[in-house]
Amino acid sequence: MSERERTFVMVKPDGVQRGLIGEIVSRFEERGLKLVAGKFIEIPRELAEEHYGEHSDKPFFDGLVDFITSGPVFAMVWEGGDATRQVRSMVGETDPAESPAGTIRGDLGLDLGRNVIHASDHEDPGSNEREIDLFFDEDELVDYERADEGWLY
Ligand code: TYD
Ligand code: MG
Repeated sequence: MSERERTFVMVKPDGVQRGLIGEIVSRFEERGLKLVAGKFIEIPRELAEEHYGEHSDKPFFDGLVDFITSGPVFAMVWEGGDATRQVRSMVGETDPAESPAGTIRGDLGLDLGRNVIHASDHEDPGSNEREIDLFFDEDELVDYERADEGWLY
């Protein structure tokens, strides 16, 4: 079995406004991942700029920061075997139009900007830990056993 790890996920402002928090949380719960932390926040601009720092020289950067700070987001930490890669496979491609049906962006996303969800990148090792640290304090990560622990992914 692959190593258990934690990964950062966030329902973006479009997902919140469209009432998709529950749908998105359900997909990860049903997949057998374990929720470790969650909070409903408006992202300060400086935090958004740091979170998306890898894109700071891209033409879409200012629009991306405007969008992610345009309304509340639901930030989460999920745990499971190879969780970062698993979550990304459930999320789909960056562009919803390129995302297969059955993925979150393929089923729910509208366009490249409004793609409903952020998830740490498995092709950028350490991005999961870095993003968790950016959004959560250590004492906000909840350590608990789930009743169905033996059936989790
Ligand atoms: P990126 O990290 O490449 O995608 P992902 O969210 O799949 O990790 O880009 C971050 C976000 O930036 C992406 O979710 C949507 C937005 N974006 C654009 O608005 N235009 C673009 O051309 C790209 C590549 C991304
Ligand atoms: Mg990315």
